[in-house]
Amino acid sequence: MEIVLATRNKKKIEEIKRIIGDILISILTLNNFPGCLEVEEDRSTFEANAVKKAMAIAKCVGKPSLADDSGLEVYALNGAPGILSSRYAGEGADDRKNIEKLLYEMHSIDDEKRGARFVCCMALAFPDGSVKTFFGHVEGRIGKEPRGFNGFGYDPVFYPEGQSRTFAEMTDEEKDTLSHRGKALRELRSYLEEIKIFE
Ligand code: IMP
Repeated sequence: MEIVLATRNKKKIEEIKRIIGDILISILTLNNFPGCLEVEEDRSTFEANAVKKAMAIAKCVGKPSLADDSGLEVYALNGAPGILSSRYAGEGADDRKNIEKLLYEMHSIDDEKRGARFVCCMALAFPDGSVKTFFGHVEGRIGKEPRGFNGFGYDPVFYPEGQSRTFAEMTDEEKDTLSHRGKALRELRSYLEEIKIFE
């Protein structure tokens, strides 16, 4: 059984392979299908974007496809950057620029009001048009300066609840245990084991 990951984000591909890689016969990525065009994330929720991506790729490649849409929601910023997380500082912005903008927007916010959460929706779509979704989130807070070099995105400024290290200061395994994507992927894993799709 092959699953095609509807992403070209190397870090996401690594995280997904770490958590469900062992139960699937083969995982391909969009890099294996250069003919499938990038799907625009223009919907208003993580779920709608993940479903749109997974369905478009399943149709394009004729195999089950797994898409992730995820992001950071900061309570004091009314949920921003949210679905715009990857392009918070503008189209094509890199992680450093996005973090810079976030820290700037939050510079006057006190410690006790820096609560945030990461949210992830995973959509598994089949070529027949059926689709199943899985969710995960992790509560935490935004620090005042970047710390650590692991992971990607906003990891250097995100302290998961009860932790004194950012995601970027943790090992991959520590992050997987706590993270929004780890949680959604373990739900997906249970589902795949239940329907024995990988046999
Ligand atoms: P997507 O590729 O549209 O799902 O964008 C997700 C964006 O949200 C990423 O580019 C990051 O900025 C942020 N994000 C999602 N998951 C994580 C994570 O695990 N750590 C740090 N940032 C994340």
